[in-house]
Amino acid sequence: MKTSTANVTAGRDDQPAISLVDGWTLREYREVGSTNLVAAGLPAWQAVRSDTQTAGRGRFQRQWVSDAGGLWLSAVLPTDGGSVAWHALPLAVGWAVCHALRNLGVKNLRMRWPNDVLVNERKLAGLLIDQFSPNVAVAGIGINVSNHPEARDVSLRHATARLADLVAPVPDLRHLTEAILHQLRIAVEEMRAAGFHSLLTRVNELWGGPRAVELDLDGTIRRGTFARVDAEGRLILLEETGHFTAYDARQVRHLTETDLS
Ligand code: BTN
Repeated sequence: MKTSTANVTAGRDDQPAISLVDGWTLREYREVGSTNLVAAGLPAWQAVRSDTQTAGRGRFQRQWVSDAGGLWLSAVLPTDGGSVAWHALPLAVGWAVCHALRNLGVKNLRMRWPNDVLVNERKLAGLLIDQFSPNVAVAGIGINVSNHPEARDVSLRHATARLADLVAPVPDLRHLTEAILHQLRIAVEEMRAAGFHSLLTRVNELWGGPRAVELDLDGTIRRGTFARVDAEGRLILLEETGHFTAYDARQVRHLTETDLS
């Protein structure tokens, strides 16, 4: 998952406001290109938040609409726990974000593998994990709060959810940032101390039960039921043949849930 910065720029960066939050150094900007790219050169336990992003990055090279009112946050995490820790890291980040959101009162929340956060089948949050340099990963977290993603992209009208429509009062961005960073630190420290298997049951509760899916393995399609992830962070698929197969996240280009009406 090594990410190149060769053809992307961080955009226009203001001088950040710097503060300490729960063991993190948080840099807050008014506007950047992408918080993940600003975080690319920072050491572990630093975080970057921006009010807006002019070139927010989503998975599969998609653009991520990042207008004012949403949470656009990147956290630099240590990845010194070996390859299992690296593969499991996105799942641990997903768990931390969901846990923080549930603590804030968000209900009916689930994850779609590997790390889309959904409420009532609409996307509330997306995560993008980049590795720009060895030993650290950048966890990019985008949460729709009081922004209007559909105003910029009409195709998002029925596909997105916002915290403002789910909890009252809607948490302010500073409070939300602190809640996420707090939970993220707990999850990553637990994973480093006790291994990913310590989080496994809690991560597997987030999928909302087995689901019919189609996996795109870089052109080869596999259909079956998404069962869970295993202790190495691999996706376990119940194939149409009745056999369980483990897929490394790097093998799976895309997962589509196929049992939605
Ligand atoms: C996805 O496609 O679902 C992932 C979206 C990730 C968006 C966040 S917003 C903060 C961080 N900076 C970026 O440029 N992207 C991530």
